[in-house]
Amino acid sequence: MPVTPTEQIWRNGNWIKWEDATLHVLSHVVSYGSAVFEGIRCYDTKQGPAIFRLREHIQRLINSAKIYRMELPYSVEQFGNVATELVRRNKLNACYVKPMVLRGYGEVGVNPLNSPIDCYMACWTWGAYLGPEALSKGVEVGVSSWTRIAPNTLPAMSKAAANYMNSQLIRMEAQFNGYTEGIALDTDGHVSEGSGMNVFLVHEGKLYTPPLATSILPGITRDAIVTIAQDLDIPVKETVIPREMLYIADEVFFVGTAVEVTPIRSVDHIQVGKGSMGPVTRRIQEEFFALTSGTKQDRHNWLTPVNAPVSAVR
Ligand SMILES: Cc1ncc(COP(=O)(O)O)c(C=O)c1O
Repeated sequence: MPVTPTEQIWRNGNWIKWEDATLHVLSHVVSYGSAVFEGIRCYDTKQGPAIFRLREHIQRLINSAKIYRMELPYSVEQFGNVATELVRRNKLNACYVKPMVLRGYGEVGVNPLNSPIDCYMACWTWGAYLGPEALSKGVEVGVSSWTRIAPNTLPAMSKAAANYMNSQLIRMEAQFNGYTEGIALDTDGHVSEGSGMNVFLVHEGKLYTPPLATSILPGITRDAIVTIAQDLDIPVKETVIPREMLYIADEVFFVGTAVEVTPIRSVDHIQVGKGSMGPVTRRIQEEFFALTSGTKQDRHNWLTPVNAPVSAVR
């Protein structure tokens, strides 16, 4: 996905030009993948640009860093205020906001502790991740031959750059096999998640999603979808899901900051339901977009307005 440069990026408390946000090639992160990050959407709502679940994303960033013993000098509020100022300074409406924490240029060698921790935040314009048709027509996916990261190897709960080497294998394999995306299984062969998105399925009127112990990222959209389902009186169960449930489910869909709510038409060339967006997916997708576009009242306080006069990170 090509990126259009914006004007400014935030680095360690200062505003710098997009083109000045460069690293030394011997920075620790380059050799050892030592970075954690977030991906957050800012929606162009009816009430002006607003960042979706900003507080939860920043809290996950801080958690991701804590797992790797990275001490951060900024609080949720401070990072949150940077995010809103960043979007304002770059004069964007709908965009993607990416905070990053990395081990910079210090010592060479595996031990990260003597390399500085650098914090960055950038944003840029962003549309539908899997193309505009994916949200309405759905996508074709395949179960990956790559297993999701095993428990107690790379911590899946940390949104760490290194985890995305596994995601890249899943994503590339899917593309070479003619699928839009892949679904990875965990080390026990149970459904885990996509390369950068969580999975839900509908079976006999109930919604199912795999639990944290199946090596998933604790998705913030996943959490929002569970809440939306409860609001809509759709029963939700977080449980271990065998692979074959993907084939017999009435509906399967991806959720995530990037994919939002994207229906899945087929898995391993086996048609899911009627091969188009199912009624439960549609209700959830409509409610999700009604909330993120501001056409429905923000009843869960999920939107932080970018142009609010006082700091109100939500
Ligand atoms: C591996 C992985 N799983 C799930 C998700 C979905 O998480 P969220 O809804 O917080 O974007 C992402 C995206 O960040 C991801 O990279």
